[in-house]
Parts: sequence; C-alpha cells; structure tokens
Amino acid sequence: MKLTKLKLSNYKNYTEADIQFNGDVNVIAGDNGSGKTNLLDAIYNLSFCKSNFQHQDSLLVNHNRDFFRLEGMFVESDLTLKVAIAFDSKKKKLIQAGDKKLTKLSDHIGTIPLVFIGPRDIQLIFEGSADRRKFLDSGISQLNRKYLQQLVHYNKILIQRNAYLKTTQLHTYDNGILDSYNSQLIGPAEFLHSARDRFIESFKLTFQESYETLSGGNEKASCAYKSQLAEREIKTLLEDSVQKDVVLQRTTTGIHKDDLLFLLDDRPLKRFGSEGQLKTYLLALKLSMWKELNRHSSNTPLLLLDDIFAKLDNHRVKNLLYFVREECSAQVFISDTHLTRVSDILNELNMDHKVFSIKNNAVNEER
Ligand SMILES: Nc1ncnc2c1ncn2[C@@H]1O[C@H](COP(=O)(O)OP(=O)(O)OP(=O)(O)O)[C@@H](O)[C@H]1O
Ligand SMILES: [Mg+2]
Repeated sequence: MKLTKLKLSNYKNYTEADIQFNGDVNVIAGDNGSGKTNLLDAIYNLSFCKSNFQHQDSLLVNHNRDFFRLEGMFVESDLTLKVAIAFDSKKKKLIQAGDKKLTKLSDHIGTIPLVFIGPRDIQLIFEGSADRRKFLDSGISQLNRKYLQQLVHYNKILIQRNAYLKTTQLHTYDNGILDSYNSQLIGPAEFLHSARDRFIESFKLTFQESYETLSGGNEKASCAYKSQLAEREIKTLLEDSVQKDVVLQRTTTGIHKDDLLFLLDDRPLKRFGSEGQLKTYLLALKLSMWKELNRHSSNTPLLLLDDIFAKLDNHRVKNLLYFVREECSAQVFISDTHLTRVSDILNELNMDHKVFSIKNNAVNEER
C-alpha cells in the first residue's frame, strides 16, 4: 500500500494538516517536540485503528478541541482505499474503510500492513516478555485475521479465570468452575501456539540474514520462540497448575507466558550486547518483520522510521538507507531533527523523495 494523501484534524498537536506524500520516501524534519512522531502515529492509527503510544483515544484529541479525525488515501496497484477514523468524546469512535463502516478492529488489521521502528523499540530487549509478545502478535495479526480474534478471546477467558482465582482460597475453590475456564482456553491456546511456532520458523531465518547484512557478518544473531506448550499440552499444564494458581491467585501457565529469546553468538543479547549491536539487532528484527509481512501479505507494508538516525554516523545512516532501498520495496516515512542530512544521503543513493518540515504545528513541503 502507498499513502498518497493524509488529512489530520485536531490530532495531537495538529489542528489541520493536509499532506500529499511521495510514493517512495518521505522525510519529516522538525525540532524536538514539533510533532514528527505524532504525524507518524497518525499513519500508524490508520493502519491499526489505535495509537502506537496512547491507549486512550481522548488523549489524542488536540488539547483545545473535542474531536479528532484522520483520513488517508491508500493505493495499491489499481486499488484505491480511503480510510477515515473519527473520535468524538461524546460519541463513539467511527472507522470507515472505503464505503464500509467497521465495527471490529480485526476487520481492518492487515489491510494496510505497517511496521513502525522507533526509539522505544529498545523496550523489546530490556522490558518484560509482554513487549516481545506484542511484537509477535502485532506481526501475525496483520497476516491472519483469525489470530487476532483468537487472541482477544483467549485474553477474555484468562481475565475471567484470574478474576475467579482472586475470589478463592486453597480449600474453597470449585474445580468445576476452573475446569470450565480451562476447557475454553484450550482451543485458542493451541491455535495461537501453533501460529506463533510457524511464524517464528520462517521469521528467524529472515532475521539471521538481515542481521548479517546490516552488521557486515561479524556476529551470529538468532532468535527463538520459548513456550511452555512446546513441552506439554495446555490441558495438562492448566490442570497441573491449579493449586499453584489458587495460591498465587492468577493463571501461571499458558500462552500468555510465551517469550522470544534474543541471542548474539549464542549468548543473551540483553547481557552482552554493545550499544551498536543492540541497535542493529532491533533494526534487523523490525526490518525482518517488514519482509515477512511483505512475503505473506497481498499488500506491500508501509515502513515508518521514527528518529532512528539519532546517534548514528552518516556512514551507518547510508548503510541503513541502502538496505531499505535494496531489500524493502516499501513506501518509507523517515523522521529526523535535521532538515537536510537524510535528504543529502537519499540524493547520493538516487532515491526519489519528498521533504516536509514541521514548524508551529504546520507541515510544509520543502521545494
Ligand atoms: N493531545 C494533544 N494536544 C496538543 N498537543 C499535544 C497532544 N499530545 C501531544 N501533544 C504535543 O505534541 C508534542 C510532541 O510531539 P512529538 O512527540 O510528535 O514530537 P517530535 O517532533 O517527535 O519530537 P522529538 O524530536 O523530541 O521526538 C509535544 O509538544 C506535546 O505537548
Ligand atoms: Mg519523536
């Protein structure tokens, strides 16, 4: 997909903006706090029907207004799709794709596949397993509608099971109630586990190749899927952990405990990776996700690079843009605090692009 036009009304720091993008590369330049990430987040929102940063839609509305609206015109070959998202603090959120009003998020996810790379990706390495599962889920959900539905269902039952566990004590729990929750978790857990397993099988090879290209092949990077379900069936896991779950008042086994292992030369990246290696690892993870989405999706995913050139020397910026040119046929959006730095390198690499600068909450195309 390519985003040709974007219209923002009252989205974060913007009151009105109307932008026509380049089909290949778009550079968004501006000072700290000018609204670069917010602009990329608006694009993310049109793909995922939510912000990459805020869960509460009301916080996305410009401070002085009471609604926001986003409108994007997307094209792929001879298909054109207008997507609009409107939020009003008094009314419900409206999502429209073409002439269809969407009621469920899962009806839209994957229509405009997208990968966002930004400074907060470092959390993937240093935060808990929830961030890594989110990375995995966000990728697979874009390829498989049923995956997101099953995930939502699994989490709903899990919340109910945990709520019940909070009301029990070791000698007072009802095995029948827990059995009923267990049997409702089995189907979704098996589906999600096998989808994750299959996805990682293909992803890990793409990842190894990408890391090798980005790093120059000096180290061996790998990632692996870790799940309790690889060893034992979910039914047995849940049944065997009942006593422990009752004591701890939460469900201690299941696919909500899955994780990804990140290794560099067979050692944990988190403990031994240098700054440069961490950065390369994250870029390889995200760019591999782009490649996997591109391989398995009928629409070309968008690639958003938010502020990833900070602290990189020009040589590395050039390497990365070269990689994007050679390996990703995506429409790319790049934010940077420097107006000409990325653009100079794009010119050197003969990459067609537009530059936009942001000042006083307005987006202007540079000529
Ligand atoms: N709901 C809102 N209404 C008005 N302004 C908002 C809202 N939410 C965020 N902002 C403003 O948006 C600005 C931050 O924008 P953003 O994060 O896009 O900046 P940036 O250009 O990416 O900066 P940096 O280079 O530091 O990453 C802040 O000044 C913040 O106050
Ligand atoms: Mg930013």
